[in-house]
Amino acid sequence: MNAIKNYISEHKDRFISELIELLKIPSVSADTAFTQDVLDTAEAVEKALITAGCDSVEICETAGYPIVYGEKIIDVHLPTVLVYGHYDVQPADPINLWTSPPFEPVIKKTDKHPDGAIFARGACDDKGQMYMHVKALEFMVKTKQLPCNVKFMIEGEEEVGSNNLAIFVANNKEKLANDIILISDTGMIANDVPSITTGLRGLSYVEVEVTGPNRDLHSGLYGGAVANPINILSKMIASLHDENNHITIPGFYDKVENLSKEERAEMAKAPFSLDNYKNALDIDAVYGEEGYTTNERNSIRPTLDVNGIWGGYTGEGAKTVIASKAFAKISMRLVPNQDWKEITELFKTHFESIAPKGVKVLVKPHHGGQGYVTPIDTIGYQAASKAYETTFGKKPIPQRSGGSIPIVALFEKELQSKTILMGFGLDSDAIHSPNEHFGVWNYLKGIETIPYFYAHFTALTKQQTT
Ligand code: BES
Ligand code: MN
Ligand code: MN
Repeated sequence: MNAIKNYISEHKDRFISELIELLKIPSVSADTAFTQDVLDTAEAVEKALITAGCDSVEICETAGYPIVYGEKIIDVHLPTVLVYGHYDVQPADPINLWTSPPFEPVIKKTDKHPDGAIFARGACDDKGQMYMHVKALEFMVKTKQLPCNVKFMIEGEEEVGSNNLAIFVANNKEKLANDIILISDTGMIANDVPSITTGLRGLSYVEVEVTGPNRDLHSGLYGGAVANPINILSKMIASLHDENNHITIPGFYDKVENLSKEERAEMAKAPFSLDNYKNALDIDAVYGEEGYTTNERNSIRPTLDVNGIWGGYTGEGAKTVIASKAFAKISMRLVPNQDWKEITELFKTHFESIAPKGVKVLVKPHHGGQGYVTPIDTIGYQAASKAYETTFGKKPIPQRSGGSIPIVALFEKELQSKTILMGFGLDSDAIHSPNEHFGVWNYLKGIETIPYFYAHFTALTKQQTT
């Protein structure tokens, strides 16, 4: 099957320009200033699915942004692949750190991407990776090589917690019935080191508010005599890690899965250069939980990080003031078996308990989700592995990621099917950061690899049932 290679070389300019058009629409789900753009993006995805060959496509309204659903059912006796992705993107700010405007995509060469990369918000997360599936479908339909049924579910609220998707999935189990879920919204180790993501961390996101006196005070007249909420909040946050960088919340580690020596040794085989890692980030040392390697710290271990902290006077010059309130946003990345609701409760109880007299503490849970691990002894994983082997010429390495796609655990619960995470981005692609980009090579490699997954998955399913 070199048909896909030929198809790509014939159509690659169009594949790139279509993605660029999609990236021009600023579909920022977190900011209501972009509401119309998010809705326009849903329509663009609808059109793309129709053009690629879906038989029916609909825009499914929710209480928030719509879900674009499309399908092509060729034979109900054949297996069904459900593709999930998201058309919303993260806010682009800080805009002044972008070397080209976030919604005016341009192709530039980088060290990691000598063939060029498309620079735009959403290029990698997730418009570019989602669109690989649309173009792979186009190839399979146009050349009559679609071996099984396919359903697409592309949502517009992934970056804000997928709350409405959860409701949609629970209410549409039959419509979404499938044999395997396929997602490209993660990464791989390097272009010459293909890997398949076998784990995602869970998440608990909370906001905390510390209130001292009932109004902002003169820091001379009152300083030293009342609790300063910013001082107190800093102290409380600092106490959440001990000297070994273990999290101090009682019960936090109770359900954490401990990997065996063998599993950790297997993980350590993945190529990794600490020097390159430090150089890429301009840091002279890594920092983290005692007793674990960098790769372990950001995949199989839970974390607690302040994502934002504010209060008092932050404008120009100086203002001598003791603020009435201080705030922080905190994320906890969780590993399999840690329940995000339980962890949120543990955090709340602990954080309230460590507040000294003289302040009031409020903990507001934001959103969260469970972690996920994909078993590798399944035909879904084998099909993906064979697909990579064909197009990369190497067996892919299974690797757990530190990121979260909370809806994946819910898919398994509601739809009883496993998810295969075929990510083609690199960690250095700057997702959520200024100058996000997606390698043109990676984009086309994804389009090339996906049809092999369909072929192998269908063949392995047939083998299993005969
Ligand atoms: N695609 C990412 C998650 C991701 C990226 C997983 C790279 C693994 C490797 C997704 O869009 C994302 O950003 N998820 C959020 C959580 C969500 C609830 C906002 C995250 O991980 O912070
Ligand atoms: Mn994503
Ligand atoms: Mn994201």
